[in-house]
Amino acid sequence: MSSDHSAREHGTEAGPDAADRSALAADLAALNLAIHQPSDPALFTRVPAPAMLPFHWRAAELEACLARIGEVLRLEPGGVRRTLRLTNPGLAFGTTPTLWASIQYILPGETASAHRHAASALRFIMKGEGASTTVGAETHAMNAGDLVLTPSWAFHDHVHRGEAPMVWLDVLDVSLVRSFDAVFFEASGVAERPVSAVPDRGFREHGSGIMAPPGEAPVANPVLLYPWRQAEAAILVAAALPPDSLRDTFLEYRNPASGGPALPTIGTALQRLRPGAELGAFRQTGSSVAYVVRGEGTSWIGGLRFDWGPGDFIAIPSWAAQRHANRSAVEDAWLFHASDAPALRSLGLWRETPCDTAEAGQ
Ligand SMILES: [Fe+2]
Repeated sequence: MSSDHSAREHGTEAGPDAADRSALAADLAALNLAIHQPSDPALFTRVPAPAMLPFHWRAAELEACLARIGEVLRLEPGGVRRTLRLTNPGLAFGTTPTLWASIQYILPGETASAHRHAASALRFIMKGEGASTTVGAETHAMNAGDLVLTPSWAFHDHVHRGEAPMVWLDVLDVSLVRSFDAVFFEASGVAERPVSAVPDRGFREHGSGIMAPPGEAPVANPVLLYPWRQAEAAILVAAALPPDSLRDTFLEYRNPASGGPALPTIGTALQRLRPGAELGAFRQTGSSVAYVVRGEGTSWIGGLRFDWGPGDFIAIPSWAAQRHANRSAVEDAWLFHASDAPALRSLGLWRETPCDTAEAGQ
């Protein structure tokens, strides 16, 4: 390929041949073919140029909307869920280009009936007690702060036998799966799937994270439940280390059998910002959603400032400069993060770099 040809392909030359190119393009279009035109939107941007916008959803507004959908929407058999979707104003659908984050709201006595889908999912329990989820043939109680996984194509149903509404964060990689045209969905013939005689074997064998039965490690992640008390304990142990300059204390939920991410496509992590923490700025490829478990802080993302508190959500686009701070001098701030990082890593697209504070905003 000549350098001249290359320059044209990449749109760096307006050129004196505009009329000829235009005529050629018209002829080619009739055959469903095309050449690059200088007016085309940039394909090879120097750095990622996401349409997704940084965004902040506030707990008070979310809670009012959840109460309203609880009154208006009825759960129906066959897989319909009552969820409040976090829609990104820069996207036609989705919270990020790859992830849908929704808040699921389930009332006492209700069952979210069994179904399965190719999209992987996770639940991070925000509020409530008394619900349980069946994933495959395992059943686990869902309590505030727990992370529960729904791997791709695993049947799952949720039953709520508690006294008050249950609220949890759902994150699905459905937009990623859609981009591959790999969407499958199947409702189960029954609302609640049969459960194994030992309904939590995977957790009992592998849930400690540091020990496991002898023999070959399972191929799929044997752990579906990551209890809050274990995640919290892990963070507090790690918090005795000197803080990371960009993330303070930040631990990822892992598949204990492989050491890899808990889900193949969705990254999950818990972060503690110690009182007064003011972290450095960085950029990374991939998009994410953060949920404020507790505490009050400020994030600067792509030049915008977000002052957040408990129950808020923040969406962070790919390659946006970001930095985070705990506004309190005495209280911790804890964030749960869901991202598409494992998908990027497995495709060789993961990048991260520190950057100047001013690039994130101040
Ligand atoms: Fe589902």
